[in-house]
Amino acid sequence: MALVMSFDTVIRPYFTPCYRVHMIHGNLDLWDYDKVKQEWQAIHDVVQSKKMPRAGCAEGVWCYIDEILFESLPGSLTDEWCGVLGATA
Ligand code: HEM
Repeated sequence: MALVMSFDTVIRPYFTPCYRVHMIHGNLDLWDYDKVKQEWQAIHDVVQSKKMPRAGCAEGVWCYIDEILFESLPGSLTDEWCGVLGATA
């Protein structure tokens, strides 16, 4: 069976419900594909610089393995990349 890669299967699982709620308060809905796509570089940068996720959720902050995996995702959520992965939303 083909592995279906999309925003829902690859990226959204990093954003737990608690992270989402906290960041909605910060005016960024991490489950909103269009918004995440628009803010992708900034999201990537705050994770890389260890500013986010900030302590506050039970699942805590990310260890270096979480960060490496997250940072290994493409540098930008371009239409091209989404097309390659079969993601349309
Ligand atoms: C563009 C990217 C991001 C920006 C500009 C940003 C900015 C912020 C700001 C301004 C706060 C509020 C801080 C406070 O008032 O103390 C916050 C809180 C938080 N952010 Fe982010 N954030 C970003 C991405 C993320 C991501 C990707 C995650 C998770 C994977 C995340 C997880 C959290 C959590 C858990 C808190 C709550 C901390 C607490 O309980 O005080 N953020 N963020």
